[in-house]
Amino acid sequence: MQRAKIISTGSYVPSKRLTNGDLERMVDTSDKWIMERTGIKERRIVAEGENTSDLAYEASKIALLRAGISADSLDLIIVATVTGDMPIPATACFLQSRLGADNAAAFDVNAACSGFLFGLSAANAYIKSGMYRRVLLVGAEALSRFTDWEDRNTCVLFGDGAGAVIVEASDGQSGVMSVDIHSDGNYWELLNMPGGGSKYPPSAPSEEAAANRLYYIKMKGNETFKIAVRTLEKLVLDALEKNGLKASDIALLVPHQANLRIISATASRLGIGMDRVMVNLDRCGNTSAASIPIALDEAASGGRIKDNDYVLLEAFGGGLTWASAVIRW
Ligand code: ACO
Repeated sequence: MQRAKIISTGSYVPSKRLTNGDLERMVDTSDKWIMERTGIKERRIVAEGENTSDLAYEASKIALLRAGISADSLDLIIVATVTGDMPIPATACFLQSRLGADNAAAFDVNAACSGFLFGLSAANAYIKSGMYRRVLLVGAEALSRFTDWEDRNTCVLFGDGAGAVIVEASDGQSGVMSVDIHSDGNYWELLNMPGGGSKYPPSAPSEEAAANRLYYIKMKGNETFKIAVRTLEKLVLDALEKNGLKASDIALLVPHQANLRIISATASRLGIGMDRVMVNLDRCGNTSAASIPIALDEAASGGRIKDNDYVLLEAFGGGLTWASAVIRW
């Protein structure tokens, strides 16, 4: 059976930086608190008129260029996002049009911070089934557009950006070894954005929307944190066991970038030193579905991953959702 192999990566973050110092002037917070509790120093924010599909386009252009392929050779485009340009159409359709990927089907995946790995699971299944041979998978978010800039509990966490990979059918030994995705909707209240859907459509009484700030991301951070640490520990150990690997076989852990304390707890449970963990949340913050592909691109283009290395990806996010992937590069 053919494997799904990531043949190239690309990423893009907006040029505008928002530092912890800037946030000190917006809400009652401090650089010290944000650094100690999250590890985030600054994040990137979209410019006016710059939307999620624009970020996705920039990242995709790089991935296509590095793969040396044209957009019309793509069979499928998947965009993982919770902050698409519009509820209709899918952001993947905007991207398809912009790239001129005329032969590709295109759809979005909503699994919050785990979205990229849910998308990878779909790409992997399509390729292994023989239905498609070449997939563009993108994680892209403009979270700043849905961030409550009056809520210090959440506004210090999020950033904007996009990462893209080309996944292709391959006969070799390298490629996706496993992808495992999980959900538990019983915990939906821990992380959500209530407004904009059929429950609270724009036609709903605006007083309620305004009073409860329904159109902004809400998170019960501390509860989410505890479940994330517990869940990720089991997730990564299961991923290793499934592939018959030891932690020492993993060349690089590329985690979702939500909180440095969560990342180090997972690495320590695995017995992996931080020198084998990709961290960029100090510069990018939590970019939800974009975080793993941005980190993966930085690692791959920065020479931190070599051919045949085992790379372990893991994520946890709203839904709740969580997912892992083991890739032989
Ligand atoms: N600045 C200063 N103080 C703050 C800030 C802030 N920005 N935010 C909260 N505080 C205060 C709180 O009010 C609280 O004060 P109190 O003790 O007087 O009540 C205190 O700091 C501690 O707050 P906690 O929420 O308990 O802080 P915690 O150590 O849990 O850190 C954080 C909060 C960073 C949000 C952490 O809980 C976290 O990272 N959670 C998990 C996030 C995650 O993984 N989410 C899933 C992925 S995201 C996605 O899917 C889009």
